[in-house]
Amino acid sequence: MTKLVEIDNLRKTYLVGFMRRPVEGARGITFDVREGEIVGLVGPNGAGKTTTIKVLLGLCAPTSGAARIRGIDSRDPRSRERVGFLPENPYVYPYLTPREFVDLCARLSGMSAAARADRVPKVLERTGIAWAADRPVHRLSKGMLQRTGLAAALVGDPELLVLDEPMSGLDPLGRREVRDLIFEERRSGRTVLFSSHVLSDVEALCDRVVILRGGEVVVAGEVSALVHRGATITELTLRCVDPETRARLLDGARLLRELGEDLVLEIEGENRLGDAITLAIAAGGKVVSAVPRKDSLEDLFFREALRTGDGSDAAPARAGD
Ligand SMILES: Nc1ncnc2c1ncn2[C@@H]1O[C@H](COP(=O)(O)OP(=O)(O)OP(=O)(O)O)[C@@H](O)[C@H]1O
Ligand SMILES: [Mg+2]
Repeated sequence: MTKLVEIDNLRKTYLVGFMRRPVEGARGITFDVREGEIVGLVGPNGAGKTTTIKVLLGLCAPTSGAARIRGIDSRDPRSRERVGFLPENPYVYPYLTPREFVDLCARLSGMSAAARADRVPKVLERTGIAWAADRPVHRLSKGMLQRTGLAAALVGDPELLVLDEPMSGLDPLGRREVRDLIFEERRSGRTVLFSSHVLSDVEALCDRVVILRGGEVVVAGEVSALVHRGATITELTLRCVDPETRARLLDGARLLRELGEDLVLEIEGENRLGDAITLAIAAGGKVVSAVPRKDSLEDLFFREALRTGDGSDAAPARAGD
């Protein structure tokens, strides 16, 4: 499959303030997006998602490495032909209405008046803002502004959609609508790269995911392969009163809950599971339940975050945040 986007050992060091203090935004990020894919870029605050997207769209230059669209370096404006972009905090001119703003974006992308008259109402409808399309922008809610930004990203009929946090500011229904919209846009042939904190959105939508942390790629791969990677995790509930055995059981397992005499443990691997059950039974305890659990992207994220650091600033927001 053709690579539409290539992020190639991308480094970006911002120089901040009078003393030009270096702040690392990206520290050697590499991944690609193939034609027709939906790829999710996830990671905690400050992970480098927006930095990567900004370099890809030529909004800032890389310190080293490169970003390319269709093989064209992102510093060349031709790379942005047929790219639709939703920035992290879309700015919509407050004195315009969504219809006027989206029409302006279409004009700037060189569309004829006839094409605009056809396309603008369609994208306003598509993004669920048509009903408020003639209100002044300063009277719109955050979610309505987000939808206006999405309409602007779609109006030029792009091949590639780059969306920085497209679900932020949306209520649960709006979030679902934007998920569906991204799916349908892919079905109609577009390629999508989007960033998000919300792992469940990424899991539901993406073919592939790139997890960033501290400006580096922590894990990357197909969502289906990643979420099955830790499929041997079991939620084990043991009833055991002996304090010494209870302490030993916590060795090599993660305590999820303590419910009176019951210990609810998360255990990785079949050997450890067998050992814990044997230990509890030998001490006169019993197995209340053992539920195998499919690893979610969120579990994977936390595990990798803990492996590469203390994980303290790695908490992703859950759906609905
Ligand atoms: N214009 C800038 N000047 C200085 N430092 C910056 C600038 N933009 C980003 N940074 C720094 O680069 C790092 C990565 O930031 P970036 O905005 O790419 O993260 P992010 O993953 O998009 O985070 P968020 O989830 O909060 O949007 C952070 O440490 C941030 O403080
Ligand atoms: Mg960001």
